[in-house]
Amino acid sequence: MATLKAVRGTRDLLPPETDLWNRVEATARAVFARYGFGEIRTPLFETTELFARGVGEETDIVSKEMYTWDDRARAASEKPQSLTLRPENTAGVVRAYIEHKMDESGLLQKLFYIGPQFRRERPQRGRYRQFWQIGAEVIGPAWSGSESPIRDAEVLEMLGTLLDELGVKGWRLALNSVGSATDRPRYVEALRKALEPVKAQMCEDNQRRAETNPLRVLDSKDPNDQDIINALPKIADYLDDESRAHFEQVKAALDACNVPYVVDPRLVRGLDYYTRTTFEFTVPDGSGLGTQNALLGGGRYDGLSEMLGGPKAPGIGFAIGEDRLILTLQAQMEKAPVKKLDAFVAPMGVTQNAAALLLAKELREAGLTVEVGDGTFRLRKSFETADRLAHRMVIVGEDEVSSGVFTVKYFEAGEQTKVPRAELVSVLKGSNES
Ligand code: HAM
Repeated sequence: MATLKAVRGTRDLLPPETDLWNRVEATARAVFARYGFGEIRTPLFETTELFARGVGEETDIVSKEMYTWDDRARAASEKPQSLTLRPENTAGVVRAYIEHKMDESGLLQKLFYIGPQFRRERPQRGRYRQFWQIGAEVIGPAWSGSESPIRDAEVLEMLGTLLDELGVKGWRLALNSVGSATDRPRYVEALRKALEPVKAQMCEDNQRRAETNPLRVLDSKDPNDQDIINALPKIADYLDDESRAHFEQVKAALDACNVPYVVDPRLVRGLDYYTRTTFEFTVPDGSGLGTQNALLGGGRYDGLSEMLGGPKAPGIGFAIGEDRLILTLQAQMEKAPVKKLDAFVAPMGVTQNAAALLLAKELREAGLTVEVGDGTFRLRKSFETADRLAHRMVIVGEDEVSSGVFTVKYFEAGEQTKVPRAELVSVLKGSNES
């Protein structure tokens, strides 16, 4: 029979790699707590309409990458509906913000999430169909200060701090402003005009984008089209005074906090809800991501709540690709030594199995990390297994059980000593030193 495998673009995360995932998530939670964020958990699937309206029908995500199905009604009282596995979490968070009337407190909402997202992309290193994001959103009524450039700078400064605390080396922050809801149509019109005479020389994808969504042309990596793209009008020349002043203040606050950045006028990002500040953090080539060097992305979405039928609620947020963050850390880290348990408890015969398990229970209660063997193991097998798994081996034979004095083998020092039961915990704790 053919063996069954994980679906293309999905993968299993196994120990010891999951230790690193847990460490990353614990660090993110600790940093988020320091900046006043609380956790939000939204459903893994939502109505298709949420993403069509929030992320945008014309985006790659909505037009080609969503896992969507018709959900049948199970009772006469239910209507069939189109549902979608979430391709990102910002639309869901803003839906929840509206649904739970979170604006009523009048306070800024600072929400973070850690969880899987789903996109039907062509899988490759650093790009999966189920991937994880660690993200956060800052949203609230305008009088809560949600529109302030301080919020943008705070989020970016927090991200720099988080990446530094995680030990990510060589990160680079690219920053842009895509303008307000009124700047953008003027710019898109200018792009359309500029593309008109040259689009026939561009690749097929860009010809299509020039018609449907000219901003997306700026994202294009097609090497033959780069000269044309670089000569296109720049969004910076189409910002109104307010957007320009907002962007200047974001940059000034970043300068004051010593957060390095480069302004990239082509950074428009692949989701339609962005207004004003957009950003991406990348890592240098050779950081384990192959051609996918965007570690995280985000920006402001001052009109998203209204697009979803909610009150005016400006906001800004980001999502880190956790899979990519882990690949980067693995590539940049010195190879971590294999973590060993404190002790391996080895019963010398099946009649000592129960006593060995009891001893292991007591040692674990004292906070030690412990594995137990089996009485059918020959001494040599116990030795080999213990040496692979633990710093020390505790031998549980007939004599040891009756005398309460155990033979402890310390592999790294090549020593063997007799230790009374009362001293076992303190002797075995010494094994963490290496
Ligand atoms: P995004 O740029 O679509 O933005 O995704 C954010 C990050 O998720 C990317 O920079 C990348 O690291 C990771 N990512 C995206 N697709 C994949 C994939 N197929 N496999 C692995 N990693 C992937 C958003 O999702 C916005 N919701 C971010 C945001 C929050 N903007 C405002 N608030």
